[in-house]
Amino acid sequence: MDIDQHYSHHTDETFLLQQLRKRYPDGPSIYQLAPLDQLHIGGIKASEKLLLQLETLKPARILEIGSGIGGLMRMLTANKAAEVVGIDITHRFNRLNQAISGLTDPATSPAVITCDARQLPFANDSFDCIIFQHSLLNIPHTDLCLQECRRVLNTEGSLLLHEVLQGPNPHSMRYPVPWASSAKQSHLITFEAMSGLLQQNNFTLERAENWSNEALQWRQRQANKEDSGKSVTALSPTKILGEAFSQMGPNVMANLNAGAVEVWQLSCHGQKL
Ligand SMILES: C[S@@+](CC[C@H](N)C(=O)[O-])C[C@H]1O[C@@H](n2cnc3c(N)ncnc32)[C@H](O)[C@@H]1O
Repeated sequence: MDIDQHYSHHTDETFLLQQLRKRYPDGPSIYQLAPLDQLHIGGIKASEKLLLQLETLKPARILEIGSGIGGLMRMLTANKAAEVVGIDITHRFNRLNQAISGLTDPATSPAVITCDARQLPFANDSFDCIIFQHSLLNIPHTDLCLQECRRVLNTEGSLLLHEVLQGPNPHSMRYPVPWASSAKQSHLITFEAMSGLLQQNNFTLERAENWSNEALQWRQRQANKEDSGKSVTALSPTKILGEAFSQMGPNVMANLNAGAVEVWQLSCHGQKL
């Protein structure tokens, strides 16, 4: 199955948009959308933590790679401080992203492009900051992707990653997980391999935080909600990823517990050549 199929095969855009209009006639807030559009471990709180870094960086032009259905993009564009472009390989996600933004703010439409992160349709030096949030995990050839980032970022531009990396026990990995039905779609590398590739591509790693414990606690809270039926609403990842999500959540927890995966936030900046 191609990766865009994995993500959008179960998505019923018409139903989702109808539900959103019915529940939130004045438009949903970013918190009301979060169960649906924050498709990563840690939810909206993890996105808020990621955004804190931009307060000091103050980039004027941001590229989000693998913007999904737009949870982080809507947060990035909320204060209108930067020009934000999203790219995603799943065309149906890009259209849904725009349709959801149309409900929250009919006056604006997010700038999203359907393309592969390994071949970015931008000129050199087009951005001051690039963000990956649980998207590098799907991309084969991390090195190609980082080369493209280096090319489209300005010389000392920033690269922020909130990603799943391979842990010390990859053989314990269980599928399906939210980002992959099988091993064919999951492209995790270790923190050491990532650090090496960043260096090779002239990025200086400024900050590296292992968020795996927080990720595990967050996943446990989600599991409690799922067990109590509280999260069985019209808005849940099941509506995007299908019924297999009931296996994906427990597998994420098992994989974190077994050290098959880790969750990291990395901040880097380009080196002057
Ligand atoms: C786990 S989802 C995360 C979406 C979003 N960043 C979020 O956190 O809600 C991964 C996203 O990466 C996108 N993606 C996967 N491979 C890609 C590629 N080669 N180029 C661009 N986007 C890709 C998928 O279509 C999907 O939307």
